[in-house]
Amino acid sequence: MVCDDYRLFVLLLTTSSIVAAVSEETFNVYALLGSNLTLPLDQKLLSDRDTLRWAHNSKAIFSRSSGVVSRGMPTDVDAAGSLQLLNLSDSSAGDYKADVHNRTRVRVNGWSGHVYVVEKVSTPVVTFLCDSSGATATLKCDVRNPKHVVFAWTHEGQLLTGETKPTLSVSLAKFKGDKGFSCSVSNSASKAQSNAVQLKLKCKQPPLPPPPLPPPTPPTPKDYCFKASTIMAAV
Ligand SMILES: *[C@@H]1O[C@H](CO)[C@@H](O)[C@H](O)[C@H]1NC(C)=O
Ligand SMILES: *[C@@H]1O[C@H](CO)[C@@H](O)[C@H](O)[C@H]1NC(C)=O
Ligand SMILES: *[C@@H]1O[C@H](CO)[C@@H](O)[C@H](O)[C@H]1NC(C)=O
Repeated sequence: MVCDDYRLFVLLLTTSSIVAAVSEETFNVYALLGSNLTLPLDQKLLSDRDTLRWAHNSKAIFSRSSGVVSRGMPTDVDAAGSLQLLNLSDSSAGDYKADVHNRTRVRVNGWSGHVYVVEKVSTPVVTFLCDSSGATATLKCDVRNPKHVVFAWTHEGQLLTGETKPTLSVSLAKFKGDKGFSCSVSNSASKAQSNAVQLKLKCKQPPLPPPPLPPPTPPTPKDYCFKASTIMAAV
């Protein structure tokens, strides 16, 4: 049993060291829809004799060997072999990989990364619900394109640390002041902020329950007088 565990441990170590030796850093690249993007191949002195290939989601999109382009257009890459992507669309997103092989077919350089195509965030709109007691409110931050969006909340311009969800629950007693709450949204390519909403004016305490009925008032002296005179009159 102990022996088996030991062998398993050695196997895991060996496997992970092999993976580490062959793996290349993978970059995450975020770019705006409709923009142009250059995927850098840090091969400054790319020899004309080398073979350069770029693939998108494992499909070859550019291939050049000994200066002859057999796939894609010569203008798809710059002098350093970097790939030029124009007018990014949703279909431009995905995995990109470059391979440079020298004449003896040894891979001498490369690049790999994942491209995220993100839309410019729209200006968010904050809506809120007051609870029935009027003590707390739940705010909601709506943005048209919430994909890859990070949320943040501010109260009177101060960031509320740790509040990173699209909803925010607040105690109205804790957050005094009337400059209000706003949310901001950002993705890796853009940022936008909502108008401030003021809760104090809108989340009203419900009407107070009617005051308890006053205890029955003792008859006033006037009543006695009246009654007395009535009695006297009757007499
Ligand atoms: C993208 O590149 C094309 C061609 O070089 C150019 O006409 C266009 O203005 C560029 N677009 C942006 C958003 O920079
Ligand atoms: C960019 O792509 C969009 C949609 O794919 C297209 O409608 C638009 O005309 C393109 N713009 C340019 C400058 O090519
Ligand atoms: C290709 O690269 C390998 C490793 O760097 C090297 O040994 C070989 O000589 C290179 N071949 C050419 C033609 O440069």
